[in-house]
Amino acid sequence: MTTTNDASPIDSRVDELIAQMTPAEKAGQLTQYFYFGSFMGSSDAEPGSIESAMAQLPEMVEGSVTAGGATSLLFVTHPAEINRLQRLAVEDSRLGIPLLFGFDVIHGLRTILPVPIAMAASWDPETIELGQSMAAREARAVGIHWTFAPMVDIARDPRWGRIVEGAGEDPYLGAAVASAQVRGFQGEQIGAPEHVIAGPKHFAGYGAALGGRDYDEVNLSDAELWNVYLPPFKAAIDAGAGNVMTAYMDLNGVPASGNSWLFTDVLRTTWGFDGFVVSDANAVRSLVTQGFAADLADAAARGVNAGVDIEMSMFDPAYGRLPEALESGAVLAEALDASVRRVLAAKFAMGLFDTPYVEEDRAREVLADPAHREVARVAAERSAVMLRNEDGLLPLDPGDLKSIAVIGPLADSKRDTLGPWVFDFDLDETVSVFEGIRGRVGSGVQVEFAPGVARTQRLHPSPFDRMDGYAADDPDDFDDDAEMARAVGLARSADVAIVVLGEWQNQIGELASRSSLELPGRQLELLQAVVETGTQVVLLVMNGRPLDLRWAAEHVPAILDIWYPGTRGGEAVANLLFGDVSPGGKLPFTWPRTVGQVPMIYSHTRSQDPDNQAHRYWNEDGTPLFPFGHGLSYGHFEYTNLAIDRPVSTTQDTVTVSVDVTNTANREADEVVQLYIHQRYGSASRPGRELKGFQRVTLSAGESRPLRFLLGPDERRYWSAAVRDWVTDASTFDVWVGGDSTAPLSTTFEVTDS
Ligand code: BGC
Repeated sequence: MTTTNDASPIDSRVDELIAQMTPAEKAGQLTQYFYFGSFMGSSDAEPGSIESAMAQLPEMVEGSVTAGGATSLLFVTHPAEINRLQRLAVEDSRLGIPLLFGFDVIHGLRTILPVPIAMAASWDPETIELGQSMAAREARAVGIHWTFAPMVDIARDPRWGRIVEGAGEDPYLGAAVASAQVRGFQGEQIGAPEHVIAGPKHFAGYGAALGGRDYDEVNLSDAELWNVYLPPFKAAIDAGAGNVMTAYMDLNGVPASGNSWLFTDVLRTTWGFDGFVVSDANAVRSLVTQGFAADLADAAARGVNAGVDIEMSMFDPAYGRLPEALESGAVLAEALDASVRRVLAAKFAMGLFDTPYVEEDRAREVLADPAHREVARVAAERSAVMLRNEDGLLPLDPGDLKSIAVIGPLADSKRDTLGPWVFDFDLDETVSVFEGIRGRVGSGVQVEFAPGVARTQRLHPSPFDRMDGYAADDPDDFDDDAEMARAVGLARSADVAIVVLGEWQNQIGELASRSSLELPGRQLELLQAVVETGTQVVLLVMNGRPLDLRWAAEHVPAILDIWYPGTRGGEAVANLLFGDVSPGGKLPFTWPRTVGQVPMIYSHTRSQDPDNQAHRYWNEDGTPLFPFGHGLSYGHFEYTNLAIDRPVSTTQDTVTVSVDVTNTANREADEVVQLYIHQRYGSASRPGRELKGFQRVTLSAGESRPLRFLLGPDERRYWSAAVRDWVTDASTFDVWVGGDSTAPLSTTFEVTDS
């Protein structure tokens, strides 16, 4: 038997291996298990409880590995443990096929980057690529081969907690961010040293859950799928992603994890994807629960027949019934072998048959690399978005200050600073906002902290809390009234109050949908009381979705969105506050005034009454609080000389848009120059504005820079519901260039058929 990466081509080695496999071993190569070790379960737990089942999980999984019944494990992150489990597969199983180790390396493993929505707010593919290549380096060093990332689901409803994991509402920005992440994770090709396989997820449409309720059904028109929800996936595939993960929910009435149109017609046939597909957790089994498959054997057949190669499973995988489904003819041998082939090909490409084990000593060295912390700090600086800065309150000059009050329940919470979807972080090396400010200003300025209000419980606890030891403040130990009075007193006697508010990290992410966007608990009351003191207030928002900031946007002069900024977040925030760097991020979503406006997007079609957009509700302004693409800096940018090289061209041509951007301020700053178009008429009506280009530039004081953007058939192409196909219409196009989606500077050009 050949189980090494020798010189013969992968295909023939895969075939050789498949020829030796029993149906059960083939099913095993399509089964992935959670492996939590003992940290989630308890052997004292009540028999039959989830904790007791969890306690038995390691033994059950290890038995499967030696029996050739598992292809991959997820959630193991310790190199010695990875090697121990790998030995069971390589040395103790009949065919010795190595395991793939997968994990959710979403925004870092040990060094935590800002959350993905924040990274998208940098509008900077280089920063994003660098960040994910650092994350990949750490992951690969501990023995992980595959990340369940990037999450590229478009999210247009901020009630959905997983908006924090993606790139926001826009398909063009989403596509750019998706391909940067795939390049960062995977490197030049699958198997590149210090890189891992990327798995864009969740295919497809998951972000459009009804009411923003996680896992609820999704109903999307073909036009929305092709034009909005699928482009980031297409970009990830074009960037070479080796894996794709399914989604849990029903898409237009068919569960995504058994949806053959998605995986066979779109992904493989139309896009030519040749990697492997994994189900979301237990999602093949769930085909029975969702009322789609008759039983687990039927679910297994539907999964494989739809093109879902691996089932991610906790207990009793449906794919355990694949031998049965093969025997009954529900699954054909060719289909089963095709799935096994794709999985084995990935293992060969990763070099696992040659080098199944990880160097345990090296991991320590890589995880300790100080360069990684710098990548995280710079990413946090580049992703912050300054929402408001009246009278240039920011940047603060430490020379003018004797005392600073740092206030709010998130200001010194390291765990919240890291955000959701991290499990291997180190709190000792995490810098909170309070610590960052104290470190930056030195001992000459008095910096004091008061939380002001408690971090309250969720109504329904998060299952993730158990995994990362997160706890809300105990109401018996926390006297809100006394704490609020202390915080207000501190603010009153300080030269400036820096108030850090938002959602605790377990109030955002998976299973963290919300029916309101208000600041949780008594945070607004705290903010109002601090503003009342008359001390200057800077509000820092820690969030992964837009929150209701209507009061703050009127009464607080400076508001900086710092997201969940990661391991070095506090330092980055201090550098931004004191002007060592200028904020330069821009919003990757439209920021509504209130939850009643959602879903709210900038790229809606024009309607018959486009000029009265602000009057859509009689009780509330119909405009957003902050538009898509909004973000201020310490610079000031002017746009002039917008021009098109060819006022008339054909549908096949590419035109060049040029513009001059000048920083008229007396300091260096970044601007994200954004280009939007509108097609005035055609086979379907098109959005009033659509992002079709952007460049993040750094301009020194007074510097003027000419910029160019190309607009070709690809930028103008869309899927038309009238033609039921892709079209490139002849039409008149408006073009706007500026610093957000309301940019006023515009011009037009004509496109003719020939
Ligand atoms: C999530 C996936 C994740 C998987 C494994 C699921 O609940 O939807 O995004 O990759 O768990 O942790």
